[in-house]
Amino acid sequence: MTISEFGPADVFRKTSIEPGEPGPGEVLIKTSAIGANPLDYKMRDGSSGLSKSLTLPCILGREASGVVIAVGEGVTEFAPGDHAFGMRNHPDTRGTYATHNVFPADVLVKVPEGMDDTTAAGVALVGLTAQMAVEQQAKVSEGETVLIHGAGGGVGQMMTQLCLARGANVLASASTRHHDKLTGFGARHIDYTQVDVFDTIAEEYPNGIDVVIDAVYFDTFVPSLDLLREGGRIVVLPSLADLTPANERGIEAHIPLISADTTIVADLAGRIARGELSLPIGHTAPLSDVADVHRILEDGHADGKIILTVN
Ligand SMILES: NC(=O)c1ccc[n+]([C@@H]2O[C@H](COP(=O)([O-])OP(=O)(O)OC[C@H]3O[C@@H](n4cnc5c(N)ncnc54)[C@H](OP(=O)(O)O)[C@@H]3O)[C@@H](O)[C@H]2O)c1
Repeated sequence: MTISEFGPADVFRKTSIEPGEPGPGEVLIKTSAIGANPLDYKMRDGSSGLSKSLTLPCILGREASGVVIAVGEGVTEFAPGDHAFGMRNHPDTRGTYATHNVFPADVLVKVPEGMDDTTAAGVALVGLTAQMAVEQQAKVSEGETVLIHGAGGGVGQMMTQLCLARGANVLASASTRHHDKLTGFGARHIDYTQVDVFDTIAEEYPNGIDVVIDAVYFDTFVPSLDLLREGGRIVVLPSLADLTPANERGIEAHIPLISADTTIVADLAGRIARGELSLPIGHTAPLSDVADVHRILEDGHADGKIILTVN
């Protein structure tokens, strides 16, 4: 599926392109599934700064899974028949919304025993973002109290579980339909459609909470700064976020800037395959329905990870 102009979800066109041969250090996969992420629609409509790196017409998408059908010179870790998945690193803009994909071997991981390719397609971007936000930037530790805005989304659910795994108390802000899932993980669900999240937390934690991780940003970032204790930290996911209000108040603030790290991805995939973490898939659709999937992404109320499948 290609785009030849930036615009609304209906700019996608089914196009026939030769997949090409894998070059040295590369692997050609027959795609099984593709992780669809909010970044993809921001690239499609031109609102992401990264859109400038695209040469039109182009293929969008950053991550995929599939079956290896050929390997380039020097590749020893993969062989035809292996199931593999991974995420492209910037500035590799080749896109993944395609029936075949050539990846550098060093961004791919073998799909672990116990995981299907559909789930694998959604692990890398969500997993790397959540791991960086929770473990490298917020450095969440045992006993800390963490508020997560957007806890029902693809990254939010993974961040909730990683914070809980580190022994933190999680206040998970999400709409009503995410209640069972979030409380099932062990978080306390705060339904932002029913109560004022900021008043609720300010009342219950007059000395402030330790960490806010904000996957929403526009209406949530600035009021969240008032909820933090002295020395508290905030991590904001949308990369267009302006951290100035936090910096001006001397509050430690970060935006994750991820790159493919196969050690972290393989570790997270193993934990998912063993049932220690879950990657709830909110929606799957065939690649031919990519325009509908982009409308769901744009709506901003996904019920978990969104996956495009390829027959
Ligand atoms: N910096 C990076 O490297 C990086 C990487 C990945 C993602 N991101 C960004 O992080 C954001 C989230 O990504 P995602 O993949 O998790 O998106 P997603 O799956 O679309 O989830 C967004 C979630 O936010 C919830 N939400 C919307 N408004 C809310 C509010 N006011 N309060 C609480 N929850 C609210 C939505 O559902 P409900 O309203 O039903 O709760 C939905 O579950 C996106 O902007 C994405 O571009 C950044």
